[in-house]
Amino acid sequence: MATVISIRDIAQYDGQEVTLRGWVYNRTDKGKLQFIQLRDGSGITQCVAFKKELEPEQFEIAGKLTQESSIIVTGSVRKDDRAPGIPGGYEVGIKNLQLVQMADEYPITPKDHGVEFLMDNRHLWVRSSRQWAILRIRATIISAMRNWLDDNGYLLVDTPIITPSAGEDTTSLFGLDYFGENAFLAQTGQLYNEANMAAFGKVYCFGPTFRAEKSKTRRHLMEFWMLEPEIAYFNLEDLMDMEQQFVSHVIQTVLEKHKEELKILERDTSKLESVLPPFPRISYDDAVERLNKLADATEDPEQKALLRMDWGTDFGSPHETAIADMFDKPVFVYHFPSIFKAFYMQPVEGRPEVCRSVDLLAPEGYGEITGGSERIYDSTLIEERVRKLGLGREAYAWYLDLRRFGSVPHAGFGIGLERTVAWICGLPHIRETIPYARMLNRKYP
Ligand code: 4AD
Ligand code: MG
Repeated sequence: MATVISIRDIAQYDGQEVTLRGWVYNRTDKGKLQFIQLRDGSGITQCVAFKKELEPEQFEIAGKLTQESSIIVTGSVRKDDRAPGIPGGYEVGIKNLQLVQMADEYPITPKDHGVEFLMDNRHLWVRSSRQWAILRIRATIISAMRNWLDDNGYLLVDTPIITPSAGEDTTSLFGLDYFGENAFLAQTGQLYNEANMAAFGKVYCFGPTFRAEKSKTRRHLMEFWMLEPEIAYFNLEDLMDMEQQFVSHVIQTVLEKHKEELKILERDTSKLESVLPPFPRISYDDAVERLNKLADATEDPEQKALLRMDWGTDFGSPHETAIADMFDKPVFVYHFPSIFKAFYMQPVEGRPEVCRSVDLLAPEGYGEITGGSERIYDSTLIEERVRKLGLGREAYAWYLDLRRFGSVPHAGFGIGLERTVAWICGLPHIRETIPYARMLNRKYP
């Protein structure tokens, strides 16, 4: 057997004999020639079985290979600019072919399938090149986020998934029975981040979070991954300064590393290239005013109604899109009304009806991708807010302790991984951004 290589590295083996191990992505029968598109997870390359160059039994197998059959081939690499594939431009002349398993009739064919069918077959759909591109970009987004934080003095400190209390609100909790006691799946790692912040100064957590939100939208999952930094002595302005650097780094890293994948996804990257600091910043008050002005100027009554906004209500997705469309970069919206924001957000001095919160809205209709705030650090005020949550003080005793032992101003945010993937990849729906989506009507496979 020749050297086993990854298709991704094929250019380095021009003229040499190599072994490839993978799956048949597609096959074209030309009689004495079989063109096999072989996929190995790292890429796809064309392998050519020529009758004269193979044992008769092997050539017979080549002519019967079904889609997704697993095979091991050995042959020589040659440059051919016309050869399709990822990266493409090379093909392998097969000298030896070994069948590992002849696949049953594969349900996902190159023709169009309905999305529910594809989601039912997600365990197989992840093999297709579009999903391959998305999930590779997802992995890079995670490492780019983590690398930036690691390089800038943030410490990864993990937070629990099973929690005794609500982290965000009490309306979207997944409850579970914990040996006869109530427990919940974490909505956020934030409260623990705040404890860790006091131990390490600058921390972040990254993990799955859970929201039992009965909303069936293109932007909501029941289980999504969130990365959350938390920083001691940071205020809202510090937070926005840091966020814009962090988000730009992630975008620029993907652009640099994934030209091929972005091409597969047909992503127009011009709108991503300009995502560099500084990002525009507008207040909630200003956003409401702009939306109502836009509504006034709009002729279409339906559109008018969608844009109209009462002060004190949260943005719907048409509002987020309209605000984002006013700028050519992601936009920060700050100082939201406290009434619909989380219990831990610091009120604005002299104007307690609004809080020191900030959301980042992505361009092109992708909506809120980060949410954050300054946290209440006054012990009396936080006690009062926890009491109002109504879940019982005992579960929060540890959290209240944080305001008794060296409480400091601090701030943090959470970035939704899947929404970030949807934006960067230009996907219409969040379901393709995660290997196995958990949605209102889906927990299979
Ligand atoms: O705005 P959220 O709810 O903020 C928090 O959970 C804070 N505790 C974070 C923090 O300050 N440490 O959620 C943060 C982000 C949102 O901006 C969004 O990107 C994403 O998480 N997100 C969801 N993504 C997919 N599906 C859902 N159901 C989501 N809910 C929030
Ligand atoms: Mg939010």
